[in-house]
Amino acid sequence: SQKAAQIEGSKPFAKELMKKYKIPTASFRVFSEKDVASRYVKEKGAPIVIKVSGLAAGKGAYVCNTLKETENAFHDIFDKKHFGEAGNAVVIEDKMEGEEASIFVLTDGKSFIVLPVSQDHKRIGEGDTGPNTGGMGAYAPCVLVDKIMLARIEKEIIAPTLDAMRQEGIPYTGLLYIGIMLTKRGPQVVEYNCRFGDPESQSVFPLVNCDWFEAFKACSSGPGKLSSVKWSIKPGYCVSVVLASKGYPGKYEKGKIVSGIAQAEAERNDIDVYHAGTTRNEKGDILTNGGRILTVSAWEENLPDAIATAYRAVEKIHFDGMQYRRDIAAKGLKRI
Ligand code: GLY
Repeated sequence: SQKAAQIEGSKPFAKELMKKYKIPTASFRVFSEKDVASRYVKEKGAPIVIKVSGLAAGKGAYVCNTLKETENAFHDIFDKKHFGEAGNAVVIEDKMEGEEASIFVLTDGKSFIVLPVSQDHKRIGEGDTGPNTGGMGAYAPCVLVDKIMLARIEKEIIAPTLDAMRQEGIPYTGLLYIGIMLTKRGPQVVEYNCRFGDPESQSVFPLVNCDWFEAFKACSSGPGKLSSVKWSIKPGYCVSVVLASKGYPGKYEKGKIVSGIAQAEAERNDIDVYHAGTTRNEKGDILTNGGRILTVSAWEENLPDAIATAYRAVEKIHFDGMQYRRDIAAKGLKRI
């Protein structure tokens, strides 16, 4: 429902919910006046995270390592009104340290299914450097989240979140994306989204065997209905590499001819190329039409092979200025 979607649409709502129901997350304060917010960060010091309260297309979080960066963030949000009304208030929270993982939960409001956990690569540069993007690649299952950690996340975060929403009288149904930070103190919630993540989905869907129509129908048919839906997980790993335009996440040009998609997919059934920012011209050529253009996804029985197969497929694709990260899933590789 629209009310339940506040869990994504209003950061203060989500943070207050977590506080009330003791769901682990970074401690926080909410401010609607620049001067008061600014005094608070000066007292607290950097590093600190400033998030606009409303929807901001994934661009509303400032991870500030210096006080100067906090001033720039406040200037964008309060003076320049960069985010319009979404920036009428800000949530200021402690910076969490650790690796992130993306948890997709399908739920009918009570029973739930946790899909294979994935890990996104949000920065543009290799080694997680440079500005944030919508995601430059992902892999699943994320080796950081073993069975013990997943059980902990279910007990401390997923079940309490769904219970909290029910107790508030606004049960959540459908797909809930929970962004988790695996900190030294345990898993903590970074954010909730009322949708699948991208490019995480391209490495999760190939691992799940189920009738998605039946699954979503069950989600909307009342508490407990999802438990009768049959689903299974394919063993192995899926790695997804995003191909982006030169300049992304800043300014980029459009209209470059994309070649090699059919060749990339031809080698095996387990290789898929997903379109994101593409269009066609009158001749039928595929052209770039955005920042993130394609995601190349490959499945293999083990992670090293999945990485190698994904990048072999990537090399068959070309467009002017194509950029991609060469270290997708490298952090996972170090842990197996
Ligand atoms: N890849 C992050 C997101 O979809 O929000």
